Amino acid sequence: MKFLDKPNSAAKNFYISSAFWVCVATLYGLTAAVELVAPDIFANIPELLFGRIRPIHINLVLFGFLTPSLIGTALYLVPLLTQTKLYSERLANIAMIIWNIFTAAAVFTLSGGKTQGREYAELIWPIDILVIISFLILTFVVVKTILNRKENLMFVSLWYIAGAFIWTSVLYTLGNVVWNPETGALKGTTDAIWLWFYGHNIFGLLLTPLAVAAAYYIIPRVTGAPIYSHTLSLIGFWMLLVMYTHIGTHHLIQAPVPQWLKVISIVDSIGMLVPVMTFLTNVWLPLKERFSTFYKEIAGKYVFAGTFFYFIVCIQGPLQSLPSVQRITHFNNWVVAHAHLALLGFAGFIAVGAMYYFLPKVSGREIYSKTLANFQYWLLMIGVNGFFLVLTAVGLVQGSSWLHGETIYRVLPEMVPYFTIRALLGVLIVAGFIIGFYNVIMTLVKGKEIRSV
Ligand code: HEM
Ligand code: HEM
Repeated sequence: MKFLDKPNSAAKNFYISSAFWVCVATLYGLTAAVELVAPDIFANIPELLFGRIRPIHINLVLFGFLTPSLIGTALYLVPLLTQTKLYSERLANIAMIIWNIFTAAAVFTLSGGKTQGREYAELIWPIDILVIISFLILTFVVVKTILNRKENLMFVSLWYIAGAFIWTSVLYTLGNVVWNPETGALKGTTDAIWLWFYGHNIFGLLLTPLAVAAAYYIIPRVTGAPIYSHTLSLIGFWMLLVMYTHIGTHHLIQAPVPQWLKVISIVDSIGMLVPVMTFLTNVWLPLKERFSTFYKEIAGKYVFAGTFFYFIVCIQGPLQSLPSVQRITHFNNWVVAHAHLALLGFAGFIAVGAMYYFLPKVSGREIYSKTLANFQYWLLMIGVNGFFLVLTAVGLVQGSSWLHGETIYRVLPEMVPYFTIRALLGVLIVAGFIIGFYNVIMTLVKGKEIRSV
């Protein structure tokens, strides 16, 4: 079992897992997109019904692609920033193995129609338990390493990483109502509020802090410009916790939930601008004339693009939490556009960039092909921007048609051209990730060895 103890192997294995699962995830997304244009194309094979593959797609992008990749980065950053060996490489690798088992189990169970039917919390109870065990192990390893640290100063990335692990261990358990294995749910409207407390926080307290932590380290490294203010970064950290935990109800503005909850969620959605802007000020302001230095390194390009998408997503977010705006934008593809810009544009670009930045360090080999990494960048860039434009446009068509009382059978045909373009753009994204997977494997097998790691 020596291979489980090899330094940096857990981070490397999380990167490989992510590079693999994102291909499966996006292939499912593409299949779903094709079905939205040609519903009967797969002759209604049960395992490929839209209602089954949609949850597979979103669970795989969340737990197969984004989280493992960002965990890989966290597992490399924590020892680096604490100047301390990771508390237990073996435990981290065991968590990685459990992680891959539950991800595969998620695909099989959801394909077989076994779901708890709550968005982002579909996984059935035994899988929930595996997720929690894996998270608890990782939290233990990360916290122990930070407690043993030799470096006194806690760089801001460490705050965000520790926060993400501790918060998510609690959040996942609560959000999936694990004390009720049968349904994994509470009852009625209370469950809707509970679910969306979990639903938005899984982005806000897991993906966002891990992505922000990676960017806080990589941007100053690539550009040579230190962050603007450490104090500001900590204000941003605590504000994120204060604001994000109250905004879940902005998903339920059109639902019969208490008015005061809606008001809090809207006020705090607007308040989210504070933590977002502290982060962007911190990493963008010091750049000034060093702006072009991003492009010297492939990882810099990805991470900078991720921060830019974060800016757009977080301007759009507060606006679409307003009831007057949601009358048009809710219940249609406007939200799907926001979701892809957020998860692929923001978290995804930072996750991939960080992976390209740290893979040579954890594997001791240079990236096999920078040209391929660059080609992947452009495929994803065209894909995500195209998605955003076409889905926002079709969302506005749907939203205004329904607002004006148009019947569904007249609106549906109008959507076909948009959905066809979305499926074609999806091909670019899938191709980008397959190229990425090939590049990762070739790096590990054939990448030029780096002498001093
Ligand atoms: C890594 C990249 C991707 C990420 C992070 C991602 C993320 C997501 C998320 C979060 C949702 C749920 C949206 C919501 O309910 O508001 C979703 C839905 C969806 N995604 Fe993706 N996606 C990715 C790539 C793709 C690709 C390449 C395609 C292929 C065209 C695709 C097609 C779809 C479809 C068809 C839906 C269902 C939309 C609906 O219910 O109307 N996605 N995706
Ligand atoms: C200032 C920050 C943000 C605000 C105020 C905000 C606001 C919103 C609102 C109001 C919705 C629901 C829209 C509707 O159903 O009509 C939404 C959906 C969503 N947001 Fe954000 N957002 C923000 C940032 C983010 C970030 C950073 C991420 C990802 C890391 C994200 C991921 C998502 C996803 C995936 C959905 C779709 C959920 C679903 O399946 O219905 N958002 N957001």
